[in-house]
Amino acid sequence: MKRLLFLALLAAAWAEEDVLPLAESCDPEACQLPACRCSGTDIPGGLHARDTPQFFTLTFDDGVNVVNINTYRALVYGRLNSNGCPVGTTYYINHEYTDYTIVNELYNHGLEIALHSVSHQTPDTYWKEATYDDMKMEFADQKVQMSHFANIPIETLKGLRIPFLQMTGNASFQVMADYGLEYDCSMPTINQINPGLWPYTLDYASTQDCVIPECPTASIPGVWVLPMVSWVDLGGFTCSMVDSCFSVPTLTDEEAWFKFIVDNFERHYMGNRSPFGFYVHEWYIASNPAVYRALARFLDMINNLHDVFMVNSAEVIDWVKDPVPVNEYRSRPCRTWQSTECPHQSCGPLTSDHNEWGAYWMQVCSACPNTYPWLGNPLGE
Ligand SMILES: *[C@@H]1O[C@H](CO)[C@@H](O)[C@H](O)[C@H]1NC(C)=O
Ligand SMILES: [Zn+2]
Repeated sequence: MKRLLFLALLAAAWAEEDVLPLAESCDPEACQLPACRCSGTDIPGGLHARDTPQFFTLTFDDGVNVVNINTYRALVYGRLNSNGCPVGTTYYINHEYTDYTIVNELYNHGLEIALHSVSHQTPDTYWKEATYDDMKMEFADQKVQMSHFANIPIETLKGLRIPFLQMTGNASFQVMADYGLEYDCSMPTINQINPGLWPYTLDYASTQDCVIPECPTASIPGVWVLPMVSWVDLGGFTCSMVDSCFSVPTLTDEEAWFKFIVDNFERHYMGNRSPFGFYVHEWYIASNPAVYRALARFLDMINNLHDVFMVNSAEVIDWVKDPVPVNEYRSRPCRTWQSTECPHQSCGPLTSDHNEWGAYWMQVCSACPNTYPWLGNPLGE
């Protein structure tokens, strides 16, 4: 009997160390804001839809550099919400071909810098099969790297999006919990779009559909999922990135694109006001001027609506933790940020083992690295 007990204790200790606890179905009594939220389409704080701020998140993926900054400057800088506060956008940035002096500029305009991995490597099976250690090098190390080269406070880096939206099971979320990352915005939902899924934590089992498996099934307390609530295209099919929608209006037809955006927006605005996202790569709107103009018109429209707010994605999570009615939200002070300098250094040529035929030039706000930063050596020491 004693011996059995000993073995049972040993097994329990082993389990604790190596296996994460499986998430159990959510108990709304135990799971309360601000630390915990069950996945679902109910409005946080039990608010009525008409009292709920409609958040809109415009996000851009991949490297930030001289090729795309002019679009961001023209579309976003100087734009205000109807409460007089500057709008937000979120940039999911990967390391390669990123100009860190431009990241610093975006940050100093109050926009959100988020993580999109060091390597952004292909094929997407790399991400599917990535281990905890891989994800630590891709995201936890990137957090240090981004803060260092762009000279921005490390605690402002809160969100991530996995390349190709290829989920890595529990691994990316475990890394987030261990390295102080607050939310993931990689997981599309196609089943919970009307009404739309609100952000939730991973303390308990999620009801979200898993579009690109493996999705997390362990209990990972305190880590938030900001679901990418899919759009519906003209053929009735869902898409999570706007530039991946299949059946779209003619790319030169501004009017039809405006209507396409508004129709998708209204599913949220006239529904449960779950956050509405326009998730895109800059090249898509830069190479399709009618799409750009339709988007700008849409922004002009919502920036004049008293209950719609174009914000940094992290601000959506902040609101969900502390849900207040729209009138109270409107009267709150605008977000502030600690401004930082960028002593511009142009560094190179730098060589890298991962790319033997190329030499890199890096634009940074720090001292130059010795070698091109990459996985396992994020500061290029
Ligand atoms: C995630 O963790 C749970 C609980 O330990 C486990 O059952 C599941 O297999 C893990 N997922 C992956 C993809 O490893
Ligand atoms: Zn990408």
